Amino acid sequence: MSAPSCNDRALLNDWHVVADCLALTLDVPFTTRLMGVDLIVTRSVLDTRIVRADTGHRVCSEGRYGFVWACLGKPERDPFYVRESDEIDRHLLSGGSIAVNVSGLRLVENFLDMGHFPFVHTGWLGEEPHTEVLPYNVTVTEEDEILATECKFYQPIASPTAQQGMLVDYTYKVIRPYTVALYKSNPVHPTRMDVIVLFVQPVDEDNCVAHSYLCYLKDGMEAAAVRSFMQLIFAQDKPILENQVPKRLPLDPRAETPIRADIVSIKYRRWLGERAITYGAIPLHVASSAGVNGRMEG
Ligand SMILES: [Fe+2]
Repeated sequence: MSAPSCNDRALLNDWHVVADCLALTLDVPFTTRLMGVDLIVTRSVLDTRIVRADTGHRVCSEGRYGFVWACLGKPERDPFYVRESDEIDRHLLSGGSIAVNVSGLRLVENFLDMGHFPFVHTGWLGEEPHTEVLPYNVTVTEEDEILATECKFYQPIASPTAQQGMLVDYTYKVIRPYTVALYKSNPVHPTRMDVIVLFVQPVDEDNCVAHSYLCYLKDGMEAAAVRSFMQLIFAQDKPILENQVPKRLPLDPRAETPIRADIVSIKYRRWLGERAITYGAIPLHVASSAGVNGRMEG
């Protein structure tokens, strides 16, 4: 019996990825959980159906980008449109669905953080002494997305096709509370970007599944290499994320002492607070009264 535990209407009325289509076997039920609600996903030759385990009621579902999506309430808008998914010279594939014992908001924040590259992804996405996060710009767009531009970081092996270390250009976009995208300069085509979109499934407030959607330029790149590179990097993040204390993301800017100035993280927490997102977070008033004082370890 599952108890719905989310009161954030914006999340209840939005779409969330709940399964990778490749993980489904025809006519074999797949169980998962979304915001405290146990779901059963079945796929037949006719359609994909999602029902709540507690009531048997059907949940809104659709397929896009190779994933199964669910909405527990009334959908108010479509899933995020990934423009690059229309470009035929890209590999479009799932990078896997990885369960992580931490709030999905923590996972999004870690995805935005370049400062951990030399320490967590040593020899791949960073290495000492290139540890400095150079200044970059952060704005909130007319579409109400957080956009971080002019991010640059030295990376020894930035992608599966990288032959040598390079200064990599990044753009980050927080699209929805649990959806974030990364645009990264391609080593073969310097004017174009590879794209990783992370659709984070809030299983409950302390657990999530990270579903990554990869849109990499095909030139010189094998699909299998793209996928295994993503999984290698994510395997390095998972234990760091699971050691974060507390599991939920404090929205009080004073609750944690950032090791480094991280303006996109500060902006993300503020943006969540202004939109009254509480699921997976320690809201401002709670953090203040409880004296939460966690540490940044990611
Ligand atoms: Fe990482």
